[in-house]
Amino acid sequence: MRDLAPETGAGLAVRGLRLARKGSVLLDVAALQLDGPGPTLILGPNGAGKSLLLRCLHGLISADQGRVLYRGGVLTAEHMARQAMVFQQPVLLRRSVAANLDFVLKRQGLCREIRKARISALLAEGGLQDKARQSARSLSGGEAQRLAILRALATDPETLFLDEPTSALDPSATQVIEQMIRRASARGVRIVMVTHDIGQARRLAADIVMMQGGRVVEHGAAKQVLDAPITQAARRYLAGGLVT
Ligand SMILES: Nc1ncnc2c1ncn2[C@@H]1O[C@H](COP(=O)(O)OP(=O)(O)OP(=O)(O)O)[C@@H](O)[C@H]1O
Ligand SMILES: [Mg+2]
Repeated sequence: MRDLAPETGAGLAVRGLRLARKGSVLLDVAALQLDGPGPTLILGPNGAGKSLLLRCLHGLISADQGRVLYRGGVLTAEHMARQAMVFQQPVLLRRSVAANLDFVLKRQGLCREIRKARISALLAEGGLQDKARQSARSLSGGEAQRLAILRALATDPETLFLDEPTSALDPSATQVIEQMIRRASARGVRIVMVTHDIGQARRLAADIVMMQGGRVVEHGAAKQVLDAPITQAARRYLAGGLVT
């Protein structure tokens, strides 16, 4: 049986995923199929299971039951190596901004010249050219987020998972990051991203996964989910989100 259509997007899917801790079911996703080119944005209230789902999709957590499929087969360590994830609180190395990027590029076995050119291009992409020599640990929150995304992009991932990458950022830093995400998506990087920002979902998403109580309550084209949600859970979340 062919589970996925590898020619469309990254072909990411979940079947019968269940995760429980101390008697509570944290994730219960019967089926989810992310076949389109994305970006896919995951929305839902605090504690809905968005971060857990993202971690499962990237293979960082094994569920108690079910499986994650990637490009037509069960997710493997090789697949994971072709994916990247950016956490809400970026973990940066205690060295310069440029050295954080160089670290990733060295692991790809690239020669010094090529690494230098790649670092310049990446820094320009994230608007961090003038920060190259600054210690990564002294960057502002928004700059650190940008560097974390650049470092993820430096691995040239097929799929990039982002967990609320702009949650603590000002509008202009958010714009820079959204632009980076849009460009990566246009280059063919499959983006799967968690956000609480409904405006951001409207700006970026091709499709939206709405979660509540560990379940996917709705998944569809962004416009359909945002403008005409089918479930009451989605309607309620979106109504709450729009009241500011
Ligand atoms: N290791 C764990 N043990 C017990 N409960 C856990 C564990 N990890 C997560 N949870 C619980 O699972 C639920 C879903 O967590 P998750 O981090 O996925 O939520 P979320 O949708 O990302 O929320 P937020 O919007 O606040 O980031 C939460 O109630 C959380 O407390
Ligand atoms: Mg979360």
